Amino acid sequence: MTSPKVPDAPGAPTDFQEHLARLEARGLVTRITRPINKDTELHPLMRWQFQGGLHESERRAFVFTNVVGARGERYDIPVVVGGLAASTEIYAAGLGVGVADIGAVWTRAMAAPIAPVMVTEAPCQEVVQLGEALTAEGGGLAGLPVPISTPGFDAAPYLTATLCVTKDPDNGIQNMGTYRAGLKANDRLGVRMATRLSGAGGYQHWLKYQKLGQPMPCAIVLGCAPAVLFTGPQKLPIDVDEMGVAGGLMGQAVRTVRCKTVDLVVPADAEIVIEGLIDTELLEPEGPFGESHGHIALEDFNLSMRVTAITRKRQPVFVSIVSQVTPSESSVLKKSAYEALFLDHLQHALGVRGIQRVEMHEPLTNLRPVLFLQFDRSAPKTEIWRGMQGAATLQSQCGKVVIAVSEDINPQNADAVFWSLAYRCNFLDDLLVVPNRAGGHGPKSGRVPTEGTLLIDATLKLDMPPLALPTEPYMRGAMAIWNELKLPRLSPQAPWHGYSLGDWAPEWTAYAEAAVAGDWRDTGEASYARRRGGLRPETPTREAEGRGKK
Ligand SMILES: Cc1cc2nc3c(=O)[nH]c(=O)nc-3n(C[C@H](O)[C@H](O)[C@H](O)COP(=O)(O)O)c2cc1C
Repeated sequence: MTSPKVPDAPGAPTDFQEHLARLEARGLVTRITRPINKDTELHPLMRWQFQGGLHESERRAFVFTNVVGARGERYDIPVVVGGLAASTEIYAAGLGVGVADIGAVWTRAMAAPIAPVMVTEAPCQEVVQLGEALTAEGGGLAGLPVPISTPGFDAAPYLTATLCVTKDPDNGIQNMGTYRAGLKANDRLGVRMATRLSGAGGYQHWLKYQKLGQPMPCAIVLGCAPAVLFTGPQKLPIDVDEMGVAGGLMGQAVRTVRCKTVDLVVPADAEIVIEGLIDTELLEPEGPFGESHGHIALEDFNLSMRVTAITRKRQPVFVSIVSQVTPSESSVLKKSAYEALFLDHLQHALGVRGIQRVEMHEPLTNLRPVLFLQFDRSAPKTEIWRGMQGAATLQSQCGKVVIAVSEDINPQNADAVFWSLAYRCNFLDDLLVVPNRAGGHGPKSGRVPTEGTLLIDATLKLDMPPLALPTEPYMRGAMAIWNELKLPRLSPQAPWHGYSLGDWAPEWTAYAEAAVAGDWRDTGEASYARRRGGLRPETPTREAEGRGKK
C-alpha cells in the first residue's frame, strides 16, 4: 500500500512541554494562576468548556499553575487539562499537522512504523523516587497533583492521561494502553483494564502473568509527546508495538529508556513515569469513577498495582484528561484516531467503493455505538451494504447503529440525518437488524448477553428534485447584505443553499433565469401557448408532453 502524502508541516512535537509552548504561541492555552482545588474545582472548571455551549474552536488547553488539595496541600507541579485534545485543532497540533491531515498521518504511521531508539540518559529519570521515599508523608503518589475527575461520585483522585506499558511474557512485545488508575495509597494504585472483547491489551498480558504465577510489571507514563500518547487509546492489534506507530506518527524514532525497577521501556522524554508490579493473584475493589460511556462505573474488583519507583523530569507538568460524558477530551482523542482507523479499513482492507468518510457520533453517545458512513453517488447498493457490515464488525464494541448517508449530508447535523431518513429511505428495503452482537462499552445495568446491530441505508438512491432554497449565488449575495446591515452574526448550517439532486430539466433553468431577470412574462406567454385540455390537475408536463425524465 502506498502511504498517503502528508503535506509539509513543522513536524510533530517530540515532548509535551514543546507541544504546550506551540499551543500557547497559537493562543490555544488558558493559564489559571489563582489557587484551584484539584479535588473539587479543577475538572469542573474545565468541564464547562464542554457543557457551556462553547463552539469546539473556543476550547483551550488549561494550565493550572497554583494547584492546591482538599487538605490545603500545595503542589509545585502545574496541571494541564485539555492539552492533548480539548479540540480537534489541539489534537492535530500534537501531530504537527492541520485537522484535515489527521487521517492521512494515521494511515501512514500504521503502514510504516518507525522503530524506537534506546538512550541511557533520560529527562524522565532526572528525579528518581524509590523505597521509603515513596511511602513517606507527602511522598510517592501523594506528591503528584492528581485531580478528582467527577467530584461527588469518584472514590479517589485518578490518573487519566496514562500510557500503561506492559509486556507480553511470551514474545517480549510491549503494549501501551490508556487506562484509568485510582490512587489507593502513596505507593498503590487501582488499575482498570477492560476484560471485554476488544478490551485492554494489557489485560491479555495480565492473564499470561497470572498463568506464570508472577506479578505483572507495569510502567504508567504520565505526559509525553502527544503522538506517543495518541497511540494509547488507539485500537491497534495487540502484537503491534505502539512505540513504532508513535514513531510513524511523529515521522521520527521515539527516544526510549529502560525503567529503573521493572523490565520495561518507556518514552525517554516523558514528564513522569510510575513503575510497579500488578498483583495477579488478588484483585482490589476500585471505583466508582465517571466513565467515558457517560455513566458512573460502579465499584468493581480490579487490578492492584504496587508502586516500585516514580521517576520524573526536574520540572515536569502533570497531564490530565477530561473524560466522562461526551463530548470530552477523551472522545476527541478517540474520534480522531478511530475515524482514521475505520476509514482506512473500509478503503484499503475492504476496498469499499465510494466510501468517503466515517463519522462517529459524539454528543452523549460516546462515539462507539452510532456510526455514519458517507458515500459518493458512484457507490452501488451492494458496496454501501458491504461498507456498513465492515464498519459494524471491525470492533465488537463499535457500530451498534450504522447509517449510510450521501455526500451532501453532514452527519454531525442530526437534522440532516433525519432528513435523509425521512425522504431517502424506505424502511421495508433499506433497514436490517442483524442479531448476535456482543454488548459493547456501556453501563452494566440491564445488560443483555447479546443485542442487535441496526444497519440503515439512507443514501440518495434516485435522482430527486433540487433542494428548495435559493441557489448559492443568491444566498451569498444576501449574506453580504446581512453583514453590511450588521444583523446578528450568522453561523450557516448546511444545507444553506439550494442544489441539484439530479432530477431537473434545462428549460426550468431557463425559466428561473428569466424570472430573476424580470422576464417571467415571456415564460408565461410560452406556457399559455402550451395549454391542453383533458388532463387532471397535477399531471406532470414531462409526462403529458412526452418529454420524459432527463
Ligand atoms: C481518557 C481515557 C481513559 C480510558 N480508560 C480506560 C480504562 O480505564 N480501561 C480500559 O481498558 N480502557 C480505557 N480506555 C480505552 C483504551 O485506551 C482503548 O481501548 C485502547 O485501545 C486500549 O489500548 P490497547 O488496545 O493497547 O489495550 C481509555 C481511553 C481514554 C482516552
